Amino acid sequence: MIKKILVVLLVLAVIGGICALVHQLKVAYKNKKELAAFAQVKTYTANLGKVLVVYYSWTGHTQDIAEQIAALTKGDMYRIQTQEEFKSSPAFYARIKKELNNKIYPALASNLPDVSNYDVVFVGAPVWWYTMATPMYSFLSQMDFKNKKVIPFSTQGSNPGTFLKDLTTNAKKAQVGTYADFNNVGPEYNQAVHNKIVHWLNNL
Ligand SMILES: Cc1cc2nc3c(=O)[nH]c(=O)nc-3n(C[C@H](O)[C@H](O)[C@H](O)COP(=O)(O)O)c2cc1C
Repeated sequence: MIKKILVVLLVLAVIGGICALVHQLKVAYKNKKELAAFAQVKTYTANLGKVLVVYYSWTGHTQDIAEQIAALTKGDMYRIQTQEEFKSSPAFYARIKKELNNKIYPALASNLPDVSNYDVVFVGAPVWWYTMATPMYSFLSQMDFKNKKVIPFSTQGSNPGTFLKDLTTNAKKAQVGTYADFNNVGPEYNQAVHNKIVHWLNNL
């Protein structure tokens, strides 16, 4: 009996491994195809006025995109920070899922930015569980973006889920502009990602 259970578990593990590998290959192919369109070096030509780049980042990917936007637009940056410093652990994913289900969002550490002097506010965060990272919910619930031009961006493994829809709903009364999402890719794509950012900004 135990032998049979072990065989079943082994078969399931092998099937799971194959599915994960196929998924990874599909994502890699999709990233390669998307970023091939941005192989050509682009020059930043837009003039977006006074820019603020607001972002939340836990592991640095969103911060990297935010820094590139700020450098190109000569904008200011504002980092959303939580009172609690999140520690990486397998339980963290389950905790966030539970908090999203219960609409419990973390307390923020930083004072809110004054956006009144900016023409455009970029707002970016990682995707957590197919939606915005919870600190972005905390942030948007306290902000007044009425009539402000807000340009959303996200970073994610491969699936942004309902990020844009959720940001649009929560950035109340903002004029939400063209969204860009960035899958995490290897350093070999740094130039292509930069070109994608420039292309996006030039077309806003
Ligand atoms: C709790 C949690 C949930 C996540 N959920 C998703 C998801 O639904 N879809 C996805 O593509 N990536 C998901 N990711 C991966 C992150 O979106 C991705 O690594 C992101 O670029 C991290 O940004 P950061 O480095 O700025 O924190 C998740 C990561 C965490 C920690």
